[in-house]
Amino acid sequence: MWAKKREVMNAHSIISKSVIYLAPLQGFTDYSFRQAFCTLFEVPDLAFSPFIETHKPDHRAYRDVLPDRNKGISLVPQVLGNNADEIKQVTLHINELGYTQVNWNLGCPYPMVTKKHLGAGLLPYPQQIDTVLNELYKDTTLQLSIKMRLGLTSPDDWKALVPVFNRYPLTEVIIHGRTASQMFNGEVNESGFLDMISQLVHPACYNGNINSLDNFLSLSQRMPFVSRWMIGRGLIANPLLINEIKTNNKATPQEIKTAINRLHDQLLYQNSIHLSGDSHLMHKVKPYWEYFAKSLPDCNKGLKKIRKASTFSAYINACKEVLG
Ligand SMILES: Cc1cc2nc3c(=O)[nH]c(=O)nc-3n(C[C@H](O)[C@H](O)[C@H](O)COP(=O)(O)O)c2cc1C
Repeated sequence: MWAKKREVMNAHSIISKSVIYLAPLQGFTDYSFRQAFCTLFEVPDLAFSPFIETHKPDHRAYRDVLPDRNKGISLVPQVLGNNADEIKQVTLHINELGYTQVNWNLGCPYPMVTKKHLGAGLLPYPQQIDTVLNELYKDTTLQLSIKMRLGLTSPDDWKALVPVFNRYPLTEVIIHGRTASQMFNGEVNESGFLDMISQLVHPACYNGNINSLDNFLSLSQRMPFVSRWMIGRGLIANPLLINEIKTNNKATPQEIKTAINRLHDQLLYQNSIHLSGDSHLMHKVKPYWEYFAKSLPDCNKGLKKIRKASTFSAYINACKEVLG
């Protein structure tokens, strides 16, 4: 079955281009980031919002996905929940906002989430997932996709889930090839990903540690039948990565540094629209340096100053020192 599927998909991949999705990163890829990024760089084919909790959401939960904050971006709102009625309520509202697709988070690895059987905490419970999908598909008009990990603590949880998923018309399944116990580090389990998609009837999207053009090319050579790729941290570290992938042309370290400089300026601008005070602004933008730093290997002294900056002016001076 696998060989047959590979043959068909190989032929398909020859004529189709890779599509690149912006991953949801709570605290990072919110509407301000998406606006900043898409104003400056190659726009992702699809962006996924950080999750909206379906348990008692209030109007603030939807702020990030309001259409007028996401102009020019194809956005898929993501939900985190385990109760069909609650998920339905939220997807109804998302639908009213004009969206036709919603993504269900089965990947969040944080113990305070998983212990409530949410996110990746649902992965060992195929029956509960089946019940939710069954209820959702009774009357939802929205298209549904899933973003998941291979398992909670076992890399084999997916095996009992594929027969469940295959019974429903999911738009696609985005697979981060780690267990929740691995959090965001360590090896991505490529063979687990490949085994899973060989049994899945839905289109699959690869996610996890795509950090450079070389890395992308070697992955796509190993998986020529995969055409959907989701990137998170790699796009913050190198905002030119989508452009590199689409043109097969590597940016220079100086070009990447300039891109980070422009993105940082835009992040300051976009966030200044809704945050009050320099201190709030600094605390919002500072965490991005964890990822920017990956592309700035020779700037340790300046990066340390950025981390330590306690006033906005010290912060901006340190940023100037690093970015020139
Ligand atoms: C700080 C942080 C926040 C995240 N928030 C979400 C989220 O809200 N929803 C989700 O599905 N995944 C979330 N993720 C996981 C990412 O979408 C992605 O699966 C993971 O970072 C691996 O992809 P990457 O190596 O390209 O970053 C988060 C990851 C990080 C590091």
